[in-house]
Amino acid sequence: MAKFKKNILCIGAGYVGGPTMAVIAAKCPDYKVTVVDINKDRIKAWKTDNLPIYEPGLLEIVKKARGKNLFFSTDVEKEIKENEIIFVSVNTPTKTFGEGAGKAADLQYWEKTARNILKNSESDKIIIEKSTLPVRTAEAMERILNSGEKKIHFEVLSSPEFLAEGTAIKDLLNPDRVLVGSRETPGGIKARNEIVEIYANWIPKEKILTTNVWSSELSKLVANAFLAQRISSINAISALCEKTEADVDEISRAIGHDSRIGAKFLRPSIGFGGSCFKKDILNLSYIAESYGLHEVAEYWQNVIKLNDYQAARFVKNMLKSMFNTVAGKKIALFGFAFKANTGDTRETPALAVTKMLLEERAEIIITDPKALHEAKRDLADIKKGVTLEEDVYKAAKGSHAIAIMTEWDSYKTLDYEKIYKSMEKPAFIFDGRNILNHKKLYDIGFNVYPIGKTPLSHL
Ligand code: UDX
Ligand code: ADP
Repeated sequence: MAKFKKNILCIGAGYVGGPTMAVIAAKCPDYKVTVVDINKDRIKAWKTDNLPIYEPGLLEIVKKARGKNLFFSTDVEKEIKENEIIFVSVNTPTKTFGEGAGKAADLQYWEKTARNILKNSESDKIIIEKSTLPVRTAEAMERILNSGEKKIHFEVLSSPEFLAEGTAIKDLLNPDRVLVGSRETPGGIKARNEIVEIYANWIPKEKILTTNVWSSELSKLVANAFLAQRISSINAISALCEKTEADVDEISRAIGHDSRIGAKFLRPSIGFGGSCFKKDILNLSYIAESYGLHEVAEYWQNVIKLNDYQAARFVKNMLKSMFNTVAGKKIALFGFAFKANTGDTRETPALAVTKMLLEERAEIIITDPKALHEAKRDLADIKKGVTLEEDVYKAAKGSHAIAIMTEWDSYKTLDYEKIYKSMEKPAFIFDGRNILNHKKLYDIGFNVYPIGKTPLSHL
C-alpha cells in the first residue's frame, strides 16, 4: 500500500462531509482521506457513479481521487483507530423533543460520535468540528473525550464549512475564507497548524483565518444569520414595493451598488430554505435566550418570522388574484428544491406553499429537474391533491396557474407560448423568484405576478 503523508478521517458522508473530503483528497494527493458513515446505503452510493447527493462537478472530483487516496467505508470503529486527524460532519438538526425543542441543536449524533471516538482511540487525536454547532460545544466535546481512563489527548478544533449547496465544489475549491479555531494553548496551536497545512495545499494563506475555538463556532452561526437576514430584509421591502409601485429588483440594484451594502444576497423570493438558515438562527436565538439576552433572541427570531410571512403572503396573493378561490383549480409548481442546482428540499419554501394551497383545496402538480424523489418523500403523508410530474410541459397542461418555486435556469427558456395554449384561461404565472421575462409573458396573454413589482394583468 502506498505510504501517505497523513491520514485523514471524516465521520459523516452527507452534504458537507462528502464534497469537502472529495476536494481535500483531490487537492492533497499525498494524504489518505477516508469517509465513514453509519448509513450503509449512502456509503454504497458514494462508491458508485450514482452519488447520494447531486452537486455540479462533484462526480468528476470524486472519480479523480476515489480508490487512489479517497475511500468510503462503514467501519467507523476501525477507521477511528487508524486515523489521527478526524473531521466530524454528522448532522445537527433542530431538537424536536424535550428542553429547547424546536430551537436548540440536537447534539445526540455528535455526542454518540464523540463517545465512539473515545472508545476506539489508541493514540492522541485532533478532532475537528465541521458541522455547525452551538458556541461552546467544543468544551462539552473535550469533556467527553478527555474523560476516559486511557492516557490519550484529544485536541478539539472548530473549522466550520461555508459551502453552499449547488456551488459546493466551486466554494470548496475557491473559498472566500476558511476558518480554523483552536484553544490558544501550545497543544491547540500545534493542532491548528496541522489543519492549516492541509488547507494550504490549495488555499492562499491570507484566506485561512485562525481564531479561538469559540469565535470559530459562533462565526458560522453568525454568517448564516447575516445572510438570512439580508433575504428577509429584501423580502420585507418586496411587500412594500407591491403597495407602492416601486420595483424590488431596481431597489436591490440601487442599494447593492453601495459598496458598504454589497450586491449579493439581495434577491427577493418566496423565502429562504435549506438545512442551515432556519436551524442556525433558531439555535443562535436559543443560545442568546439561555444567556438571558431576550432582545437579541427576539431580534433574530424576526428574521424567521418574516420568512414565514413571505411564503404565506405569496399564497395569499395567489388566492386574491385568482378570484379568491383556488379550490379544485390545478396549480403547477415549477421547482421543489430549496434553490437551483441541488436536489435538496430541506426546509424548502415550496413545501410550505404546497401545504397552504392544499388547505385551499387546490390540485397541485409539482415538477422539478432534480428533486422529485425528495418531494415524494416529503409529501408521503399527503394522500390527496398532489401529483408529481417530471415533464414540465405536462405539469403545466390544463392548469390555471404556474408558480415558480425554484430558480432553475431551464425555466427561463421554456416555450411559454406552447405552455399558455395548453392552460386554462385566464392563465396566471406567479414568479416566486423573479426569473422570467414578465413583459414577454404578459404579451403572450398571461396574467403575471412577480415578487415586489406591480403585477401585469389583463383582468
Ligand atoms: C447556506 C450558506 O450560504 C452557506 O455558506 C452555509 O455553509 C450553508 O447555508 P445554502 O443553504 O446551501 O448555503 O444555500 P444559499 O445559497 O445560502 O441559499 C439559501 C436560501 O436562500 C435558498 O432557499 C435560496 O434560494 C435563498 N436565497 C438566497 C434568496 O432567497 N435570495 C438570495 O438573494 C439568496
Ligand atoms: P450535512 O448537511 O450537515 O452534511 P447530512 O444529514 O447530509 O448533514 O449528513 C450527516 C451524515 O452523518 C449522515 O449521512 C448520517 O448518517 C451521518 N451520521 C450521523 N450520526 C453518525 C455517527 N454516529 N457515525 C457516523 N455517521 C453518522
